[in-house]
Amino acid sequence: MDKTSSEDRVPSAENASQNDKKKLPWGRIVLVLLLILFLALQLYPVDRSNPEVVADIIAPDNIKAILRRACYDCHSNETKWLWYSYVAPASILVARDVQQGRERLNFSEWGEDYDEEDTPEMFLDECWESIESGEMPLWFYLPLHPEAVLTDEDLDALRTWCGADQLEQEDGGEGADGEDEAAEHDHSQHGQAARKENGSEKNKSEDKK
Ligand code: HEC
Repeated sequence: MDKTSSEDRVPSAENASQNDKKKLPWGRIVLVLLLILFLALQLYPVDRSNPEVVADIIAPDNIKAILRRACYDCHSNETKWLWYSYVAPASILVARDVQQGRERLNFSEWGEDYDEEDTPEMFLDECWESIESGEMPLWFYLPLHPEAVLTDEDLDALRTWCGADQLEQEDGGEGADGEDEAAEHDHSQHGQAARKENGSEKNKSEDKK
């Protein structure tokens, strides 16, 4: 018994050590590969340039302060590139957002096209809806930029400045005008309700333009 078991033990111990040699440390290999991938990703070229501010938006200081806090990182040439924008893959995503954001809307160029009078109206046309719907600023930007969260006061200030509040009031008033207009155009006595609807809808679509 003793003899056989010791004979068994010797080869089995050899087997074990052979197995140890063959068995690759997969965990470590995966980690090293990930590290290499991560480092290689850092070589991916990322454009973090801030073009010259040609003509900043012309707006009152309080409005500008809100936009600077909430929008300028993606919609101006004054992007503040924070630490994570230097670390891939975040850097690649951030740079893409800034590029697309600037393409769509760049407050650093607004002053070229709109003076003090036109600016609020353009803002109402171009931007208000995306703010009111909560689409902008982009939600994933907010946890790292709590200062960009728009408070009720911010929203009130923007709403008053761009005239969205007036529009809401006028919508009611002009709806009535619309009814009159529709009545003038259509002298038939039938389908009054339908005419009223047409009238107010027409006015709304006109307002949007
Ligand atoms: C984290 C970056 C980021 C921030 C902050 C941000 N935006 Fe944007 N915004 C984008 C990107 C990216 C797009 C382009 C999205 C697209 O075209 O799908 C965009 C698109 C828009 C558009 C066009 C929407 C459309 O339907 O085409 C408007 C208007 C806009 N943003 C307004 C604002 C305003 C106003 C603020 C500040 C209150 C703001 N954004 C903050 C990244 C941002």
